[in-house]
Amino acid sequence: MANSCRKLIFNIYIGFYCSAVIQICICSQFTSSSIVQFNKDRGAFPVATNGELFPWHELRLPTMVIPLHYDLFVHPNLTSLDFVASEKIEVLVRDATQFIILHSKDLEIMNVTLQSEEDLRYRKPGKKLTVLSYPAHEQIALLVPEKLMADLRYSVAIDFQAKLADGFEGFYKSTYRTLGGETRTIAVTDFEPTQARMAFPCFDEPLFKANFSIKIRRESRHIALSNMPKVKTIELEGGLLEDHFETTVKMSTYLVAYIVCDFNSVSGIASSGVKVSIHAAPDKWSQTHYALEASLKLLDFYENYFDIHYPLAKLDLVAIPDFESGAMENWGLVTYRETSLLFDPKTSSTSDKLWVTKVIAHELAHQWFGNLVTMEWWNDIWLKEGFATYMEHISINVTYPELQFDDDFLNMCFEVIKRDSLNSSHPISNQAETSTQIKEMFDAVSYEKGACILNMLKDFLSEEKFKKGIIHYLKKFSYRNAKHDDLWSSLSNDCLESDSTSGGFCYSDSKRTSNTLAFLRENVEVKQMMATWTLQKGIPLVVVNREGRSLRLQQERFLNGVFKEDPEWGALQERYLWHIPVTYSTSSSNAIHRHILKSKTDTLDLPEKTSWVKFNVDSNGYYIVHYEGHGWYQLITLLNQNHTLLRPKDRISLIHDAFQLVSAGRLTLDKALDLTRYLQHETSIPALLKGLEYLELFYHIMERRNVSDVTENLKHYLLQYFKPAIDKQSWRDEGSVWDRRLRSALLKLTCYLNHAPCIQKATELFSQWMESNGKLNIPTDVLKIVYSVGAQTTAGWNYLLEQYELSLSGAEKNKILYALSTSKHQEKLMKLIELGMEGKVIKTQDLAALLHAIARNPKGQQLAWNFVKENWIHLLKKFELGSFPIRMIISGTTSHFSSKDELQEVKLFFESLKAQGSHLEIFQIVLETISKNIKWLEKNLPTLRNWLLISI
Ligand code: BES
Ligand code: ZN
Repeated sequence: MANSCRKLIFNIYIGFYCSAVIQICICSQFTSSSIVQFNKDRGAFPVATNGELFPWHELRLPTMVIPLHYDLFVHPNLTSLDFVASEKIEVLVRDATQFIILHSKDLEIMNVTLQSEEDLRYRKPGKKLTVLSYPAHEQIALLVPEKLMADLRYSVAIDFQAKLADGFEGFYKSTYRTLGGETRTIAVTDFEPTQARMAFPCFDEPLFKANFSIKIRRESRHIALSNMPKVKTIELEGGLLEDHFETTVKMSTYLVAYIVCDFNSVSGIASSGVKVSIHAAPDKWSQTHYALEASLKLLDFYENYFDIHYPLAKLDLVAIPDFESGAMENWGLVTYRETSLLFDPKTSSTSDKLWVTKVIAHELAHQWFGNLVTMEWWNDIWLKEGFATYMEHISINVTYPELQFDDDFLNMCFEVIKRDSLNSSHPISNQAETSTQIKEMFDAVSYEKGACILNMLKDFLSEEKFKKGIIHYLKKFSYRNAKHDDLWSSLSNDCLESDSTSGGFCYSDSKRTSNTLAFLRENVEVKQMMATWTLQKGIPLVVVNREGRSLRLQQERFLNGVFKEDPEWGALQERYLWHIPVTYSTSSSNAIHRHILKSKTDTLDLPEKTSWVKFNVDSNGYYIVHYEGHGWYQLITLLNQNHTLLRPKDRISLIHDAFQLVSAGRLTLDKALDLTRYLQHETSIPALLKGLEYLELFYHIMERRNVSDVTENLKHYLLQYFKPAIDKQSWRDEGSVWDRRLRSALLKLTCYLNHAPCIQKATELFSQWMESNGKLNIPTDVLKIVYSVGAQTTAGWNYLLEQYELSLSGAEKNKILYALSTSKHQEKLMKLIELGMEGKVIKTQDLAALLHAIARNPKGQQLAWNFVKENWIHLLKKFELGSFPIRMIISGTTSHFSSKDELQEVKLFFESLKAQGSHLEIFQIVLETISKNIKWLEKNLPTLRNWLLISI
């Protein structure tokens, strides 16, 4: 997942929510002291929906009253599509107060009463409370007749009701079609980050942890699931059933979940005795088995790795037919988009399997990072998202080594570097207050950069010390909240109970390498070092200059699209400084040398003469390296002479860094292209694919801009240069994961370039598939290619659309939808958009990906963009402003633009949105990206043209 954006919402929300909250008592009952207080600050307080002053003006809740326990009863009606509910919240008053502020959004509140402990003891009826509502902050105020006393507990009872939401947030409805063609409805929750308040009034901030006892009423044809195991089911008059669930452990509201559905499940028992079940719509049951195997393995792994038991007796993983993001880690009841959980052996490819494994690994890691230990506030979501992303790799490398997931880590870091090297990036730990800002935090910086810097720290500290530190952190903050400093304290030299000390440092045994010990002696403060990576945006560039045995290092901020000679370059560098744990290897030994670059410049002496030096060994560091003088020349020569002298990951990082340096104006494109010439001999598939990726990217840029001579020559070059590899490909699912990924990538490109043998084979398979009426099994790794070739004829396209409607495999549907979006006919592309907007055949959850796919098609780019501009209001009715789909729609339909006219057009559109009150961080990212594209073309088109002329 993830990209980004920001701000505003109030003016949109006010009118909309006013009618939703009904007030019970009209009279407000402030005591004189609070009225004095009120009058003093009159201007500072907002006005509630009934015209009275609302006693709280901040977005965050006050801490005078904190929740301890929620008794929540919910009765959804899947026919009338609404729910009635009630709750009793036990609260502790920390400071005497006259009001309780809670979150509530779109709920009709019918009755609110309050009982003191004494009232409860003597069974006195509750006192009715006045409710004020301030929709702009999604808050309600419960006004109490007599001051609530500090250190006492009270019970607040609230009756409320609402419609099941239309979108993907709060308590919403989702539908699916059965094999028999019947449409069925289920009700499901999705609360993160700020949507629990749409399902029940609550203290909807991560710091307010409490226990939840949930009861769900349902019809007998349904089942109900929640975070905890069911304790009992009560039969009610009229045939309704009521499930009572065990009280949860102490947790934040965003992790609460419940579902009413008619799904089937498969179950297994983990080594620790936890019951793991995978639930899906009845006809999709056969696709649940891989997820069960993976979740059992991964749960075992995490329980061992963290040395902390998963604290609940069961873990449910549920495939939800309508889901906005990829998955959500609700404690004990993890919800997934169908394509993130289900694996269909007939239509799911290797990449699909990797994705499912990755998402399961990610959400299970959250059961510790996020659920057990939660960030104090959303500014630090990287503490859970960065960690879950990091842990995906740690866990999959052990549980599924055959998936060879390790090499993907690098690619993930490269992806986020693109974003982080724009000035519009933000620090990992970033201020976020409004719901829109909080939603925007779920982006590549929190996830991927978070994971990459954790990996760098692990490499620096040693795996053992890092692991020990995070276990310490998890144990220390269990059922509590933490901030980033708490993590650094656990990871730094602060002695853990089990450690002994020596020379002012802790260490537990002698396994630590002498290198690391040396660093510990330097008294490196982890906290200080990590502050430079989390509180400062961007990525450093390390410039290496070698003269004999002396290495001069220099650090600066790496900026994509801003050149050193540009006037703004200097200002953009000011005050940026990182503590960079650099590593390097040389021609003279296999050793990994380490140094911390804390200042702008530094000098190192090599112990012996070497013919080359390669920095950032295995690309574990989050920085780009530039070799001045003869550095690049020496490395390119080395690659051509014997590339195996460098580790595969080092070869990948050289390719990556070289092309990044081209974008920053530090290396000429022909040098970077020359570097790829060695790829003909490359034996590492990830390295080969990295080189191919850049060449393919250039092809797409040229094609979009209609630079026909370069497009043609590049096509020629690609087909000629990769011919030996292309010719080796079979059209079968065979070989290792990377063999299979190479096959998919190469054949996709070859068919895209209209290479006759590829088109012929794909057409043949497609015809056979059509003749078999969709029964023939096409090898899964080439399925998307075959469908895409088939979609180029009208008959093929129509047939694919029919199959799309019928298919029960999300993996297949995604491939078909992608294939349909590659049509050259605009009326077909428009039809897809219409279907996506209608939301029946093509679900709304797939609309963003559809628009993105159409915009990637040169014949669809203008169409998709025009559509977004003209239908912005309609899109905002489907998705919330800062949500992932909205950000994806914006960046997906604009960020490939590369002309000044397009930039101007996009700018004007964003300005009109800002004038209407919508402001997102993604706007600036897109504008910078387009400017960068323009600059790249201006600078590099002639070089690319010439290089091709001498290369083919
Ligand atoms: N906690 C998130 C779900 C989420 C995403 C909540 C966005 C609110 C906003 C979940 O753990 C997650 O990160 N899901 C990813 C999948 C993951 C494998 C990267 C997603 O939904 O893309
Ligand atoms: Zn996550």
